[in-house]
Amino acid sequence: MTLLPRPSRVLPLAALRPGPLADRYGRVKRKLRVSLTDRCNFRCPYCMPEHPHFLPRSALLTRAELRRLLRLFVGELGIARLRLTGGEPLLRRDLEQVLEDCAALRAVGLERISLTTNGALLAPRAARLKAAGLDDLNVSLDALDPQTFARLSGGREVQPVLEGIAQARAVGLPVKLNAVIVRGVNEDEILPLTRYALAQQLPLRFIEFMPLDGRGAWSRDKVVGEAEILARLRQEFGVRELPRGGDPAAYFALTSRAGQTEIGVIATVTNPFCASCDRLRLTADGALYPCLFSERGVNLRDPLRAGADDRTLAALIRDGVWHKDAGFVAHPGYTRRPIAMNALGG
Ligand code: GTP
Ligand code: 5AD
Ligand code: SF4
Repeated sequence: MTLLPRPSRVLPLAALRPGPLADRYGRVKRKLRVSLTDRCNFRCPYCMPEHPHFLPRSALLTRAELRRLLRLFVGELGIARLRLTGGEPLLRRDLEQVLEDCAALRAVGLERISLTTNGALLAPRAARLKAAGLDDLNVSLDALDPQTFARLSGGREVQPVLEGIAQARAVGLPVKLNAVIVRGVNEDEILPLTRYALAQQLPLRFIEFMPLDGRGAWSRDKVVGEAEILARLRQEFGVRELPRGGDPAAYFALTSRAGQTEIGVIATVTNPFCASCDRLRLTADGALYPCLFSERGVNLRDPLRAGADDRTLAALIRDGVWHKDAGFVAHPGYTRRPIAMNALGG
């Protein structure tokens, strides 16, 4: 695990000056995850509360409000990559229009527009998403076995997700797969998912179950850690660690008689990447959460609706980012955050 430097105590006068958007540990922010809705058509137990209370429509940022904030993040504050998330972002009817607004930001420095989805509603919409400006997709796929998939999605079917993946690739959208592994539920899917990813030549990342679930059911013993994931892979593959990049995942080259592939492991619990974290998140109701483990967010929506100018909003953002906590390294326990993963965009 990489350690963070001591936080700077110099006060965020930086908050008022132009320059890179950085926190007090010197981590510069280049990526913004934007939740477009807290609603979801799935009920993944590692994410959603059992009986979710969704935000009223009036609480969500409108397309125009999003456009204004995203222009500020990209044009003024140096964000280069956007990732649209949910809940399930495909539940947002104006998703294609939001994508078009994002695409217009390429003129002011935006490099990439990505989306994270559960994939169930993807197949019929993939071509439109691509045409609206989407660059790539991450699709959650926690199991191939229908029963296990149903357990991890709240009773949904895996087939539409596989069709969504195929259709996205057919229209030229690169796809990466994410699989959250929960002990006692889907650790036996590690090898089948890897075989599938190898056969399809799709990048796959295994994700350790993080203590951010809406049901409060997380416990350390339900985490299948990186070491155990690799041990399972070694039953069938040669496994070689690759040099670490700036990604939350560590990557491994796998070889077997069936061929070669690479898999990633996002080991937030056993091997956090917080020291090099370059991300921020914006909730669907316009709160800026500098970290997945932040206990509260900075409300940008209310000042925006009250008529705040760009300078005021930028100062609020810079100040919130400056105070970003160290991350999971600092509190390796439960987060008492009032919102669950579906509201934070994962
Ligand atoms: P790329 O690296 O650009 O592909 O995006 P990503 O990995 O951030 O996207 P994705 O939405 O697929 O997230 C995959 C997993 O990484 C999810 O379980 C996220 O919760 C987790 N993740 C994303 N950002 C962070 C972060 O800032 N901290 C931690 N600990 N985990 C994160
Ligand atoms: N632990 C790890 N990953 C999670 N996700 C949602 N909740 C959790 C959790 N408690 C992941 C989803 C998806 C991404 C948006 O967040 O699987 O890949
Ligand atoms: Fe929905 Fe994603 Fe949460 Fe599953 S992980 S319930 S698909 S928001």
